[in-house]
Amino acid sequence: MNTINHGQTDVNAPAYVQNKKLIQWVADIAALTLPDNIHWCDGTQAEYDYFCELMVKAGSFKKLNPTKRKNSFLALSDPQDVARVEDRTFICSAKKEDAGPTNNWVEPSEMRATLKPLFSGCMRGRTMYVVPFSMGPIGSPIAHIGVELSDSPYVAINMRIMTRMGKAVIEQLGADGEFVPCIHTVGKPLAVGEKDVAWPNNPTKYIVHYPETREIWSFGSGYGGNALLGKKCFALRIASTMGRDQGWLAEHMLILGVTTPEGKKYHVAAAFPSACGKTNFSMMIPPKGFEGWKVTTIGDDIAWIKPRKDPVTGKTRLFAINPESGYFGVAPGTNRQTNPNCIDSLNQDVIFTNVALTDDGDVWWEGLTETPPAHLVDWQGKDWTPADGAAGRKAAHPNSRFTMAAINNPAVDPNWDDPQGVPIDAFLFGGRRSTTVPLVSESLDWVEGVYMAATMGSETTAAITGKVGVVRRDPFAMLPFTGYNMSDYFQHWLNLGKKLADEGAVLPKIYCVNWFRKNDQGKFAWPGFGENMRVLTWILGRVAGTSKGKETALGISPEHADMQWAGLDFSLDQFNSVITIGQEDLKAELKLHTELFEQLAHHLPKELLDTRAKIEKRMNA
Ligand code: OXD
Ligand code: MN
Repeated sequence: MNTINHGQTDVNAPAYVQNKKLIQWVADIAALTLPDNIHWCDGTQAEYDYFCELMVKAGSFKKLNPTKRKNSFLALSDPQDVARVEDRTFICSAKKEDAGPTNNWVEPSEMRATLKPLFSGCMRGRTMYVVPFSMGPIGSPIAHIGVELSDSPYVAINMRIMTRMGKAVIEQLGADGEFVPCIHTVGKPLAVGEKDVAWPNNPTKYIVHYPETREIWSFGSGYGGNALLGKKCFALRIASTMGRDQGWLAEHMLILGVTTPEGKKYHVAAAFPSACGKTNFSMMIPPKGFEGWKVTTIGDDIAWIKPRKDPVTGKTRLFAINPESGYFGVAPGTNRQTNPNCIDSLNQDVIFTNVALTDDGDVWWEGLTETPPAHLVDWQGKDWTPADGAAGRKAAHPNSRFTMAAINNPAVDPNWDDPQGVPIDAFLFGGRRSTTVPLVSESLDWVEGVYMAATMGSETTAAITGKVGVVRRDPFAMLPFTGYNMSDYFQHWLNLGKKLADEGAVLPKIYCVNWFRKNDQGKFAWPGFGENMRVLTWILGRVAGTSKGKETALGISPEHADMQWAGLDFSLDQFNSVITIGQEDLKAELKLHTELFEQLAHHLPKELLDTRAKIEKRMNA
């Protein structure tokens, strides 16, 4: 631990910091933001405990009852700072067309001029935490390093759970290692003697990325992806541009392992928009009828994927790591039925944000138990009873979260931390669609798979816009996360697939899935959760060449007899209600694809238009 009072340019880095560029940058940012102190995070448990204590003393953390949740804390945010702010998120590439129509863009020098006065003196009265972090196992050929300078101890605490953070990263960086500079401030400097608030932030918010110089500047929010800059800002927006330049993929995907009863292991990477159950899927327990199968978690949100020769077969494959080391999951809806492994992960070492507090010092959120406790303190610190719930007032914010370490997941994969990554057998893409999109469909080839992913749509949830149920196109579940022009991103996927195929690589098969079809009564027609295993095993059977399927306009889907139903009563009629593609629905859907393509016309790969034409032809055949 090394907290110092500094002169403005003497950042008093610990002796193990050898990287001159890092020291100079910390000095430059300190000279701009004028913190009272600089603390170089070493990432030790003692430091983490000290930060938590600091937060409790400041009234920003409530220590939970240790007999219920050991070493765990609750933070309640300012109601104006509860989610990622997509409308305040900017990709400031030199040219507007390189950010593309799906990103907010401001010319970089103009944005720098806007940010300069905001960042000037923004850390007065606060400590600046220097948070060195590795996205991915330290030293992994797939990993990359970042350093976040933040005036929020909440950020330092969460970054220690979510990333490999501290002294070991600085040592890996050495004298000349490269790092992505990430600057974060809550944007609330303190005057001398001014008392701080529990959740400092600023109504003005900017989440800014400069892809050419690979910098991140975040102002005014302390929440989640706005503030934990390793996550969406680096691991997706900046990393996607690095992947484009360097020939790899940074994706909004969970990664899981599936082991068959015979001991054969497969790995799947799956992209779903925010709050579509990624954490649940990645921690799934196989249902009745799947005795002997095992599902293990490598990651729940983000995958970094690089091609490399498989040492066993000598063929090139795509290997993936989880760049994170923890899960920042949505709490509401998580319970023993929907995600038992997650519930078992949340007994210790958790930071809860914006959930409700019980009278015995535990936490609660909507869906945790069928019957809510008789009294709670809600996420805004107000008394709450079930009568308030009946009147529509939520006890926990719909985007309330838990931050937990991957190693506390009982289903964590034994190779989750393998620096070499795991070889991917299948990519899954899934949105939340009550109609049209079938339970599962295999693309006929890589290009059609890219089409499937590019045209994905999803009904929105609270984590995204606060509005529920509006369908928005979310290509690759990357709409808010692609750090460059979306059509160039499609092209990158096409190019990588072609290059690898030309080299004789074994490419993952690509699938579109939909757990959210509704029946005529408006109820979910597919049971979901653990039962998704039935879809997963059909997919792995396709990879192994054992599952049968039938060609449809969209690709290949199973018939009822092609899936394993032991342990679940799911009739042919029910199956038809989740697998059938209505002709009129598909026609309407293709129209929406055309609208999307019109919006993304700049650099839109011709292959996608050709694929649309092929689907239309198959539909009319
Ligand atoms: C997340 C998100 O927090 O996608 O993972 O919004
Ligand atoms: Mn996510």
